[in-house]
Amino acid sequence: MDLRLPSTVCFRVTRYCNARCGFCLAPPDGAHPAADLLKQRLDWLAAQGVHTIHFCGGEPTIHPALPELLGHAQARHCAVRLTTNGIVLPDPLLSALRTTQAQVKLSLHGDRAHHDTIVGRPAFDLATRHLRELLAAGVSAHVQTTVVAGAEWVLDWVADYCLAQGVRRLSILPFIPRGSGYRTQTEYGLTAAQRIHLRERVRRKRHALQGRLDVRWLDFASQPLHVIEADGRVVLERASEAMDTVLGVIPGSTLERKRVAVRAVATPG
Ligand SMILES: C[S@@+](CC[C@H](N)C(=O)[O-])C[C@H]1O[C@@H](n2cnc3c(N)ncnc32)[C@H](O)[C@@H]1O
Ligand code: SF4
Repeated sequence: MDLRLPSTVCFRVTRYCNARCGFCLAPPDGAHPAADLLKQRLDWLAAQGVHTIHFCGGEPTIHPALPELLGHAQARHCAVRLTTNGIVLPDPLLSALRTTQAQVKLSLHGDRAHHDTIVGRPAFDLATRHLRELLAAGVSAHVQTTVVAGAEWVLDWVADYCLAQGVRRLSILPFIPRGSGYRTQTEYGLTAAQRIHLRERVRRKRHALQGRLDVRWLDFASQPLHVIEADGRVVLERASEAMDTVLGVIPGSTLERKRVAVRAVATPG
């Protein structure tokens, strides 16, 4: 397969999760590939010239092989990043994050009441404890916050929180109507005016906190993202699933094997 990939890709190690965010752009779909298959995909990506593997999901930390996969990517000369809800941080993972010099983004959506409501379970205390552990271990850890309609106040809260904890970067993600978010857009969706207003507030916050906190606006709707899906598809993801482009399937994936089998049955002789 001849695919032009960018230097950084989002690598979904699983589509399972230990949370249930009402807006999840990549909700559980049953794909939880084995470690060996994921390693083969990493080999293939490195051979295609990908330099940075951004581990995500689903929730990547619930894949038992994640520490091994981080090391595998590093052995293929790839830089590693991880986005996590921070609910679990087992010791082997913390140690792998240190040794691979991973950059971690931990999703924190507001104060305890708001975060737990968004995530669908008690998660705030775990996420904030694990953020402190990452920082104390010297791991480069940033905060990422999805902002939904009616909760624009979280910008001030989370910026203050980052300053108090010594976090150096905060990414603000306006809600987009993908995945579960397609269903919940009437509740969470930002109007065009709210989006513009929020963006302007982020710009002002960035300016006000320059040198102390790197505040960024990260809008998945305006930046198509190359995603390696847990089922092996290579997808260019946009604001909604209807706008996505499936670019291909990684060689050796179960999906590809199934397609080959179907083709073989469909074209006998
Ligand atoms: C899909 S999650 C996967 C990684 C991990 N489970 C987590 O929540 O951090 C990656 C990021 O996308 C954000 N996100 C999920 N659904 C979203 C949506 N509909 N709009 C904007 N951001 C969203 C999450 O808050 C998280 O920061
Ligand atoms: S946004 Fe992340 S933590 Fe929330 S349900 Fe989706 S994968 Fe899980």
